[in-house]
Amino acid sequence: MTLLDGKSLSLQIQDTLQSIITKLPSAPKLVVLLVGDDPASHAYVGMKAKACERVGIVGEVLRFSHDVEESEILAHIERLNRDTSVHGLLVQLPLPSHINTTKILESISPHKDVDGFHPLNVGRIQCNTQIDRAFAPATPLGVMRLLEHYHIDVKGKNVAIIGASNIVGKPLAALMNNACATTSLCHIHTKDISTYTRAADIICVGVGKPNLIGADMVQEGAIVIDIGINRLESGALVGDVEFEAVAPKCSFITPVPGGVGPMTIASLLENTLKAYRLLESSATP
Ligand code: GUN
Repeated sequence: MTLLDGKSLSLQIQDTLQSIITKLPSAPKLVVLLVGDDPASHAYVGMKAKACERVGIVGEVLRFSHDVEESEILAHIERLNRDTSVHGLLVQLPLPSHINTTKILESISPHKDVDGFHPLNVGRIQCNTQIDRAFAPATPLGVMRLLEHYHIDVKGKNVAIIGASNIVGKPLAALMNNACATTSLCHIHTKDISTYTRAADIICVGVGKPNLIGADMVQEGAIVIDIGINRLESGALVGDVEFEAVAPKCSFITPVPGGVGPMTIASLLENTLKAYRLLESSATP
């Protein structure tokens, strides 16, 4: 069994980004909008800002109270869309319930949409068209990068994805399909997910339920990608996979923490550099 070490690959990618960015004529800039005081969102945004600083991306965080009006957020996005010094723009999710998340995400310029949540980018990733101008969400992109780094070719493989969110499961299924895998996208109404996981060469799970995937659900030699992050009452961070029981059956498995999480950060930084290059060369669609 080999551990898929996302932490060290993420740092390696960040070193490469840093050496590229120091040679650019100006610094790329990422602006993050953070609404409310959800502790997990604050922690994620803190990690994003720190990583920006590490590679030479200017990271700016705009904080809003939980009762901010939707129109105020939209006004900021319009301003940032027009601001030519800004290359990447994202709104940390989830948003408070009085704010229409779809409306906010659709208002972000697709050319600055480094989260890949705008319908233009979602469509391009789904259709596998204009890929060099499209942004895929950072977590699925990080999963694909991690597999590539370990020379795991997904072509022709059976992939079971557990969790069909717009942020992770659905875009991951699209990237897997684009790479010629056979993908099963399981969700809350799937009758028996073990039917799919037992037949899978690669299992990707991101649901937010500790111990969802046990050893009896995994075939010998499987590759297991754990995208879940759960904080136990003890304070420990665990994924969705019963790691101790499942790991001995796997050919490859990600640890939590230190697997997919750091790859998400690296992919966001890569997307920001991509946005910079496209915007600075005016190569918008
Ligand atoms: N909340 C959880 N994951 C993400 C993400 O990748 N991007 C944003 N904007 N919010 C999130």
